[in-house]
Amino acid sequence: MISSKLPNVGTTIFTTMSQLAAQTGALNLSQGFPDFNGPQALLDAVGRHVSAGHNQYSPMTGLSSLREQVASKILRSYGVSVDADNEITITPGATEAIFCAIHAVIRAGDEVIVFDPSYDSYEPSVELAGGRCVHVQLTDGEFAIDWQKLTDALSPRTRMIIINSPHNPSGALITRDDLDKLALLIADRDIYLISDEVYEHLVFDGVKHASVLAHETLYQRAFVVSSFGKTYHVTGWKTGYVVAPPALSAELRKVHQYVNFCGVTPLQWALADFMAAHPEHVEELPAFYQTKRDLFCELLASSRFQFKPTPGTYFQLVDYSQIRPDLNDVDMSLWLTREHGVATIPVSVFYQQPIPEQRLVRLCFAKREETLRQAAEKLCAI
Ligand SMILES: Cc1ncc(COP(=O)(O)O)c(C=O)c1O
Repeated sequence: MISSKLPNVGTTIFTTMSQLAAQTGALNLSQGFPDFNGPQALLDAVGRHVSAGHNQYSPMTGLSSLREQVASKILRSYGVSVDADNEITITPGATEAIFCAIHAVIRAGDEVIVFDPSYDSYEPSVELAGGRCVHVQLTDGEFAIDWQKLTDALSPRTRMIIINSPHNPSGALITRDDLDKLALLIADRDIYLISDEVYEHLVFDGVKHASVLAHETLYQRAFVVSSFGKTYHVTGWKTGYVVAPPALSAELRKVHQYVNFCGVTPLQWALADFMAAHPEHVEELPAFYQTKRDLFCELLASSRFQFKPTPGTYFQLVDYSQIRPDLNDVDMSLWLTREHGVATIPVSVFYQQPIPEQRLVRLCFAKREETLRQAAEKLCAI
């Protein structure tokens, strides 16, 4: 008999819903990935570098040309200088960065505060490190930090807080004011921070993303994580990075060195080329996705779903309480997939303790216009 180290982990809802979408031929608006390709120049660059022989291990910290490009993107986006050699590490996906950051500092018995609804990789990573997640619910409706609940959750064992903005699944944004409050709250405590900013460039309506990279005090104790997959429409490349002060980066690299050692070499070359040649890609991204959000919301306006256009990410939450209040959100997602041909993600799976009366499902609008129109037609017919 195997005594599982992760007894509560099974097949994730993302796998289940994508499989069901494939079986039933439903439009897959569940898992968060685009149904369109990345920029052609980026794709072409991979072929070029593979042919040129850039197929062996890259440096453990990542190709220096890519780290330099990340540093200059950070300078352009947030006006801060980070040291490409000592503060930036390229990882096989943001997921590996999060895992390594947790394992770099969390020991047996440590507590890690996560905000529910929260991304599913945080808790198993903490548990494998011997730590325990303390779940603090974001406010119902706005998905903002409840400062009283956060204060109450702090204990002498709290070693880390994980924040995520723009937030999956709600799209909610943490503001600069929130970061100031957080800095004040943990000023005298020995607490590290993971700031999961994989959707950093998907912020809409002219709002500026409040990055921990630009918060001098918080950054001193932070691992700031991002993903090329989200920014360049290539989620399957599983290539990301983590930015942290030199001492924290050094500890993270000790773990990363033995989890995976390095990212995929030709992909790093291609990303470095593309970022150098097309710095405008990042600046154009908010408008690119805002157009999709606006189209999708406009198309859904005549449906019986209720929603507020999301302020960030490529996810739109919709409330179905006027349609099937009798169904919980898992059953609603199955019903929508099987009966109406649109696969969604139930929001309750992001909670340790789901809110029983919540009637929300998540739709991914990182899709071609044609897909969004077809999905909206089906959803409006319900
Ligand atoms: C909030 C959040 N963090 C991290 C990740 C993982 O990113 P990557 O695919 O680069 O590992 C995702 C992917 O969906 C995400 O939504």
